Amino acid sequence: MKDKLRVLISEEEVSRRIREMAGQISRDYEGKELRIVCVLKGGVFFMCELAKHITVPVTFDFMAVSSYGNGHESSGALQIVKDLDESVEGKDILVVEDIVDSGNTLSRLLTLLKERNPKSLRLCTLLDKPERRETEVPVDYTGFLVPNLFVVGYGMDDAQYYRNLPYIAVVEQEE
Ligand code: IMP
Ligand code: MG
Repeated sequence: MKDKLRVLISEEEVSRRIREMAGQISRDYEGKELRIVCVLKGGVFFMCELAKHITVPVTFDFMAVSSYGNGHESSGALQIVKDLDESVEGKDILVVEDIVDSGNTLSRLLTLLKERNPKSLRLCTLLDKPERRETEVPVDYTGFLVPNLFVVGYGMDDAQYYRNLPYIAVVEQEE
């Protein structure tokens, strides 16, 4: 069985939107310093592209959490696979994610980070699938709203493959 990829959002569209988001973030954080907390692994490609166009001083930290395994559904409990290297206390934190789906992972992650007393905490996601929401999550910056389809590319995977695609695609299985 071979996968067929259907482009949902082209490389040009993704780049253009990310630059717009970086512009908005730079304006919102004018005069401040930003700490980006990137959620591994999916957020990495988006974070890099976004950060290249942010004009306020920015530092980075990374966190890996899991509530998925290799399946397509959240399994429930949040597991911290890799915690942050530095304290977020008193910092302006922007969490950067690939996609908000059920919202279960992000809402738990935001709760956990809030308990560590950052000065501010905002969420930036490349994609949002609002139809799938089970837990409310306050999303501050959204790249694109997408329908209820399993997507890959720009950091997002299907069983760890396709993260490196420079566009966003839907996997269609060929018999
Ligand atoms: P949530 O907890 O259901 O919101 O899922 C969060 C995580 O699941 C995201 O950060 C992604 O890593 C993964 N995920 C959700 N939907 C998709 C998808 O369509 N393609 C690839 N990964 C996805
Ligand atoms: Mg993710």
